[in-house]
Amino acid sequence: MKIMVTGGAGYVGSHALLKLLGANHEVAVFDNFSNSSPDVLERVRKLAGANFRIYRGDIRNTAYLEQSFAEFQPDAVMHFAGLKSIGASNDQPLDYYSQNVTGSIEVLKVMQRHDCRHMVFSSSATVYGECGDLPCDENHSLQPTNPYGRTKYFVEEIIRDWTTSWRDASAVLLRYFNPVGADPSGQIGEDGTDTPNNLTPHIARVAAGLSDRLNIYGGDYDTIDGTGERDYIHVDDLAQAHLAALDYAGQRTGCEAINIGTGLGTSVLEMIAAMEQASGRHVPYVVVPRRSGDVARSVATVDKAERLLNWTAKQGISNMCKTAWDWQTGQHAGKRGLKPQRLIVCDERKSAILETRTLGIEKPRTSSLTAGNAINVDVLCQVSVKPKRTSVIEGWHPRVLQRHAQQAHPD
Ligand SMILES: NC(=O)c1ccc[n+]([C@@H]2O[C@H](COP(=O)([O-])OP(=O)(O)OC[C@H]3O[C@@H](n4cnc5c(N)ncnc54)[C@H](O)[C@@H]3O)[C@@H](O)[C@H]2O)c1
Repeated sequence: MKIMVTGGAGYVGSHALLKLLGANHEVAVFDNFSNSSPDVLERVRKLAGANFRIYRGDIRNTAYLEQSFAEFQPDAVMHFAGLKSIGASNDQPLDYYSQNVTGSIEVLKVMQRHDCRHMVFSSSATVYGECGDLPCDENHSLQPTNPYGRTKYFVEEIIRDWTTSWRDASAVLLRYFNPVGADPSGQIGEDGTDTPNNLTPHIARVAAGLSDRLNIYGGDYDTIDGTGERDYIHVDDLAQAHLAALDYAGQRTGCEAINIGTGLGTSVLEMIAAMEQASGRHVPYVVVPRRSGDVARSVATVDKAERLLNWTAKQGISNMCKTAWDWQTGQHAGKRGLKPQRLIVCDERKSAILETRTLGIEKPRTSSLTAGNAINVDVLCQVSVKPKRTSVIEGWHPRVLQRHAQQAHPD
């Protein structure tokens, strides 16, 4: 089949892309790289040993979307493109409605104009809101508690109406629970600039020493140990579910919502223990008050996925944590990664380099710096000695910093 993958450079999209290429599908990616990088697609090309077209654009750019469909003529769309941070959606709801809802409507319209009949849509467990009667099956009431969840809910309804009005069309709405982990190659993983919804990247940062401790929001929930319980799903299993959903959609009409999870709950404390095991590092934490909008427990019922898609999750949390840790400490970790970093210590006026250091993935020990500011060249930020905080440095061009660094530390 010919598959247009919107958001194919993103976290889940890139893993699904790899699977699609592995299954010999013909693929094109449509992405504006607002939360990803074209490098990811290069790495997918190398890993898969297969080529594919790339359309760089926003899904709300109807003319360009039209052009891509006219050229590529896809049979199906895997629709990952969209914004995904619950927190940011509270601050910028209109942007979320525009990108996620308006963008999806544009994709559906263009699909219909080009007789592209099948869609696999990235929905989310957030459409349920609080799952009072556990576990959460697909017939559970839909009461999302934040704008992000509402965009997913609205798009689900829009896609359902689309398949009702266009009798030849089919769609599978995959309600992901909590995607975690990375491809075992260490070449692709979660690498966006958006604040991740998931706990694991935050835990990994603490394990690596880049944050002092993890905030656990709420220790008095009615769960196994008082901390929030979630159903974590390995991104590799999730990518495989997309292939199964594509096969399913390709053989029928209509619309099905299907949970994608393991059916098992893991508490925050259990996840911390799994990451400590995977990383060999201690993860300090502090329990702070609950966040509004968080639910105590969110665990999938996964019978429908097994029945309709003949798919079940295979990987457990130890492998999720191991691949997440390997990715975040590996060479391609990117913006959010825990790469070894170089510090430049300069004087207060930022006019002279006093010292440079390579930090590994450990937290900069700012208190040991003699004077001035420590400048992290790789992420271009300034670390004040007192008080401890980071901020983007002003007035220093990256190339100037690099030149200073090379002069002071030629290798
Ligand atoms: N990762 C999760 O925890 C999670 C959970 C449930 C559902 N989802 C949904 O799955 C999808 C993929 O999630 P992800 O984690 O891979 O996110 P991601 O941010 O890593 O990937 C999204 C990709 O879409 C692109 N994109 C965003 N807006 C676009 C636009 N307007 N036009 C073109 N491209 C655009 C981004 O550049 C990025 O490459 C999203 O729709 C998300 O809401 C994710």
